[in-house]
Amino acid sequence: MDTEPTFSQTNPTPGVVGQPLSRVDGFAKVTGQAKYSAEYNRLPGLVHAVLKTSDVAKGRVASIDAGAAQKAPGVVAIFTHENLPKLARTPSTPEEKQALNAPMGFFPMQSDQVFYAGQPVAVVVADTLEHAQYAATLLKVSITPEAPLASYQDPKANRYVPKTVKGAPGVTKRGEAQAAFASAPVQLTATYVHAINHHNPMEPGATIAHWESPDRLTVYDTTQGIAWTQKTLSQMLGLKIEQVRVVNKFLGGGFGCKGWTWPHVVLSPLVARAVGRPVKLVLTRPQMFTGMGHREDQEQTLRLGATKEGKLLALVHEKTSTTSPWDDYAETNHKILDMLYACPAFESTYHLAHANVMTSTSTRAPGEMPGSFAIECSMDDLAAQLGLDPIQVRLLNHADKDPATGHPWSSKSLKECYQRGAELFGWSKRNPQPGQTRDGKTLVGWGMATAAYPVHSGKGNARARLYADGRAVVQAGATDLGTGTYTINTQVAADALGISPDNVRFELGDSTLPSTTISGGSMAAGTVSSSVYLACQDVWQQLIKVAVADKKSPLYKAKPAEVVVTKGRLQLKADPSKGEAFGELMKRASLNDIEGTATGRYGSGYEEAQATGSAAPEHAMHAFGAHFCEVHVDPELGTVRVTKWVSVVAGGRILNPKTARSQVIGGSIMGIGAALMEQTVRDPNLARYTNADLASYHVCVNADIPAMRVEFIDEHDPYINAMGAKGIGEVSIVGVTAAVSNAVLHATGRRLRSLPMTPDKVLAALRQPA
Ligand code: MOS
Repeated sequence: MDTEPTFSQTNPTPGVVGQPLSRVDGFAKVTGQAKYSAEYNRLPGLVHAVLKTSDVAKGRVASIDAGAAQKAPGVVAIFTHENLPKLARTPSTPEEKQALNAPMGFFPMQSDQVFYAGQPVAVVVADTLEHAQYAATLLKVSITPEAPLASYQDPKANRYVPKTVKGAPGVTKRGEAQAAFASAPVQLTATYVHAINHHNPMEPGATIAHWESPDRLTVYDTTQGIAWTQKTLSQMLGLKIEQVRVVNKFLGGGFGCKGWTWPHVVLSPLVARAVGRPVKLVLTRPQMFTGMGHREDQEQTLRLGATKEGKLLALVHEKTSTTSPWDDYAETNHKILDMLYACPAFESTYHLAHANVMTSTSTRAPGEMPGSFAIECSMDDLAAQLGLDPIQVRLLNHADKDPATGHPWSSKSLKECYQRGAELFGWSKRNPQPGQTRDGKTLVGWGMATAAYPVHSGKGNARARLYADGRAVVQAGATDLGTGTYTINTQVAADALGISPDNVRFELGDSTLPSTTISGGSMAAGTVSSSVYLACQDVWQQLIKVAVADKKSPLYKAKPAEVVVTKGRLQLKADPSKGEAFGELMKRASLNDIEGTATGRYGSGYEEAQATGSAAPEHAMHAFGAHFCEVHVDPELGTVRVTKWVSVVAGGRILNPKTARSQVIGGSIMGIGAALMEQTVRDPNLARYTNADLASYHVCVNADIPAMRVEFIDEHDPYINAMGAKGIGEVSIVGVTAAVSNAVLHATGRRLRSLPMTPDKVLAALRQPA
């Protein structure tokens, strides 16, 4: 069914939107003027808190000897479960976890129990960081250890099928997939294994809590969503929402771990209230591995049934992963498997096992990223088995509508992504035979994969104040992960108000500003820019009212509907010569400034439709893309080096190709990291991470990455939001691990299905027959 476009798609007057503007906050960052959350150091009486965490993964605190620590220089206070002030609410039931929007159904230091290694058991507060750190070494917390469970792989672990994971059912069924698989002429079954990944943003989690009065709290926090943090903190501390102000002006990355209000964020104001001083708490790098979640260890078995021609008949998917003692948490891998290709039957089942770990959490494209590894490797295996080109098999199974919902796509340019990517990469020169291309003794392979990421729903407010002299202050309580929120919204406001971006001041990162969505789920670009655009349109409407009532205006007595706006000028639709500039009108009307507000919404709206009982939207909304990769594999060392990379992404309107390109490069690099080197190792006996630092948790550095080619397919999507921007932060990582594995297969004739593909695994595979 064809419906009216939701948004008229009147682009703000062509101007700086779509131009590669450099980051407006770049100068502040490179000159050190940008103030990050841990840098509000001038607060009067600021003291420093450090966490003391448990080395054992399971047990009970048997005794605490704080004597020496108390007497250490500069110590202000020491808190353990015995004297920590009580929270108003703790997320210790599933209902409370949900109500509090908490990342775990657990809060530490409420009893003597220890459930995971790295769990905070004490907070030490002192006048300086060094004093707090030293005192923490003197504090003796003895824990009686019990045998922990480290993961679902432990034979003692109890596997179960949860009712729900992250709001999705534990079992999803569409058609009779098992039967369809059993009778399919072509059957592929494979198991895919993922290591634990940690987000490891450059900037660690950090909170400064400042009680300005006994009932007014300001928190400077490394959060991706100030409104979420404000809500969670106010409820857990027993405050009204307006008593809590959350500030975050700059973030040094997040990738999902800063989307949530983790224990240290709550502990900071809790102890600050007790000591009567502002408290700063910064996680150490090792604490980042047990303080803000991770991508869970998991394996997926995918059974793929197809016709002899390569058309999908059935997908049967199972995922097994580790969760915490309290939560049924798993990233929802099945969603992408259900929508990526036309397939008449689908079934997915989650298996979980509780272990002594903290709850895993959203990590860049949670679900789609690992899910795409299974489906995109399997599709490649299908192509190889049937002698089809990898792109051909994907085109053969192209989903013309959303298989999961049956809805038409709001827009989809995946075929264009394949075509342009293939062109840029030179895919037509690919030797169809694996293991045939060499560069000296090095094996060379080419692989590709599809990317997709949903347009989740977001909703947010913005305010735009235009001054008669042509300046504007535009505001939304958004956060900028470092990806360009400041910049794109400056561009949108500049065009909408017909002024230079230099004259726009875009403010974000403060809960006193109009509230908006978190920077997560790839929602911020579309939601915030649309809100800003609509707030500027509200300014237009007010100006039009003034103009048509003003005898001196060329638009006097015109019907408001006949007035259009272009480049900061009101004019008659029928006769553009009749009109005047915003500033002219405002000066004559003695309007020093004029303020517009609006609520912008974004995306599929399923959640909202569910909550309000209104009709579900009629379009499925996704960003799509394709990644192309060349690898060089050293058959003696087992090393895999990515030597060429092309990504083509269709993400609706690209507001700024420079910041967008950086997003795609960043996402792809993080995916290459997961493919080749990123893994956190949890000791199977102690349930403790053995490599909780950046020396042994390897992330890609420049030397690991070739020059990357990124292009966008221009899309006009009238259903997504007022700006038609889909968001590209997460689609950029989806499919990347598969593209690399597919290239390794092409280079070596060996399929690697366990991530990361480290040299030991590559060498072992090379020792097997092809
Ligand atoms: Mo993202 S993993 O939605 O911050």
